[in-house]
Amino acid sequence: MSDGERLEWLPVLSEVRELCLEALASGDSERALVAIQANPVVAFACISTAGRAGVRPESLRAALEGCGQAALSRAIAQQPTFSLGTIGRLQSISLAQRHHGRATARLGAVIAEALGLACERREALATACVLHDFGRALMMARSGADAYEHCTPERRVQLESEAHRYDHAQLGGLVLRRVGAGPGLCQAVADHHAEEPEGLAAIVSMADMCVHLEQGRPVRMEAIHRRAEDIGLGYSALALLLAGGFQGPSGAMPTPTISPLSGREQLALEAAAQGRSYAELGREHGLAATTVPAHARSAYAKVGAATREEAVVAASRLGLISTQTGER
Ligand SMILES: [Fe+2]
Ligand SMILES: [Fe+2]
Repeated sequence: MSDGERLEWLPVLSEVRELCLEALASGDSERALVAIQANPVVAFACISTAGRAGVRPESLRAALEGCGQAALSRAIAQQPTFSLGTIGRLQSISLAQRHHGRATARLGAVIAEALGLACERREALATACVLHDFGRALMMARSGADAYEHCTPERRVQLESEAHRYDHAQLGGLVLRRVGAGPGLCQAVADHHAEEPEGLAAIVSMADMCVHLEQGRPVRMEAIHRRAEDIGLGYSALALLLAGGFQGPSGAMPTPTISPLSGREQLALEAAAQGRSYAELGREHGLAATTVPAHARSAYAKVGAATREEAVVAASRLGLISTQTGER
């Protein structure tokens, strides 16, 4: 069995699969993209479906636009699922991938905002962030454990290369290439642990290291500083990025000065946090009925959430919104 086929074994939480199918069936492509992007296993199924159809997608949006809602729905419907009552080794890997992919995409979105990346590039970056460690999931599914859990990312790839002659990043890039993903996406994944990554790979690497740090895992600070310099993130932007994602000494979560949310996205999430409807908010600001929900969905994606409730929790935790009227 090939690596690409083995990856498709990875099951997804049944509720996650249903959420993606429901979003696709609604015909609301923004909502569907948010739901798909929240899970690397589903995202991989979509990219490989589009890749095999000859689309060569650089992002999930390109996959959806290239092969359509019906084809992606069929691929997702075939994805094996599990329920929370039946968690085993592969299920845990799938859940860990979901959390890590989403966390990396969230910080990737913050960096993209700070760097002022264009829309298309942000889409490609988000997809690369979600899928960047898919090769690692494959290695773990194969070996049954993560032997390098307590290593720095540099040490991990060194040990993987010694053991297999390739590291998880190269494996992920290879698997994506094999299923027909776009060359930029393959490269961003394959090079995220390269000595001198370029373009999107360097930003994925930066977001990944920040997530490791956020999770209390070993990371070399000089590697973070060097990568920030490579991608053009100034010292103060880096300090704010890190401050925005970490627990302060008082235990309070500081409010980041660089917010990934636009003013209207923030308003939408604050309305959700206050239990107000998007229709009500739209009327108050003289916006069309579809405008506020669109801003809300964009905000969900930026904080790595699939639902309104998850977005409120994530945005509050990051200090991006106030849950009280009239306060930031
Ligand atoms: Fe990695
Ligand atoms: Fe990672």
